[in-house]
Amino acid sequence: MKQKPLQDKIALVTGAARGIGLAIAKRLAEDGADVAVLDLPSMNLGACVQAIKANGQRALPISGDVTVSADWENALRQIIEHFGQLDILVNNAGIAGPISPIMNYPDETFDHVMAVNARSVFLGMKYAAKQMQTRGGAIVNIASVSGLSGSRGIVAYTASKHAIIGMTKVAALEFAAHKIRVNAVCPAPTDTQMVQILENTLSPDNPELTRRRLFASIPLGRYGDPAEIAATVAFLASAESSFMTGSALVVDGGMIAS
Ligand SMILES: NC(=O)c1ccc[n+]([C@@H]2O[C@H](COP(=O)([O-])OP(=O)(O)OC[C@H]3O[C@@H](n4cnc5c(N)ncnc54)[C@H](O)[C@@H]3O)[C@@H](O)[C@H]2O)c1
Repeated sequence: MKQKPLQDKIALVTGAARGIGLAIAKRLAEDGADVAVLDLPSMNLGACVQAIKANGQRALPISGDVTVSADWENALRQIIEHFGQLDILVNNAGIAGPISPIMNYPDETFDHVMAVNARSVFLGMKYAAKQMQTRGGAIVNIASVSGLSGSRGIVAYTASKHAIIGMTKVAALEFAAHKIRVNAVCPAPTDTQMVQILENTLSPDNPELTRRRLFASIPLGRYGDPAEIAATVAFLASAESSFMTGSALVVDGGMIAS
């Protein structure tokens, strides 16, 4: 029988309780990986664990906050105890933050969004690379089209996603000697709760209006499906992308081509 692309690999996906993270965890399991999944203590990882097991793979749910170093140390300790190794890290957890012009954007909120989206990626790469350095590995950081261009009202989100692309490049250079590849993925609006909240915030009386406006900004005329982002992550996590490191792959229905 043909070997699956991620057979015998151990992966960690953050923010895996729903949305893109859930789709990534499912896809990595379909491709043969055992998957540790991390999310906030308030989130239920049950559906994600079920989906991984339904593919015949082992699952390890971990409660934690990606902004906290001790939670990363604890997660890595659990993964090594349970699986003995870590081969793939997907830094997916993220928040959009409020929509507000810079002049009114609250200082503490800026710091919080930066912590969840950017500090988390720094911490994840730092702690995971220590485990991966003897065997090599693949790290995939979920950035955004907001890491490549600016949008009014989301200064912290945009700064954090640009930071992820910068950190991806630094890590690719530093980790190359350890055979750890590091790449980023830049999705356009994708059909998850994050984008539904955006629709309800921008046009509370008629969310469909924002949906139509966003569709119009995407040449393929629709949101991405979480499975489409997961397919790109699976590619970057696998040996199919063995000569790729330091890149930021755009998965955007043509959005930034225009
Ligand atoms: N949905 C989109 O349109 C879109 C577009 C581009 C990029 N992205 C990025 O994709 C990633 C996933 O987004 P999504 O749309 O699935 O969002 P989502 O809100 O549906 O899911 C995010 C997940 O991250 C978890 N999370 C949040 N803060 C956390 C923390 N401090 N510690 C641990 N887990 C935490 C949440 O609990 C949730 O399960 C994010 O990094 C987001 O910026 C999303």
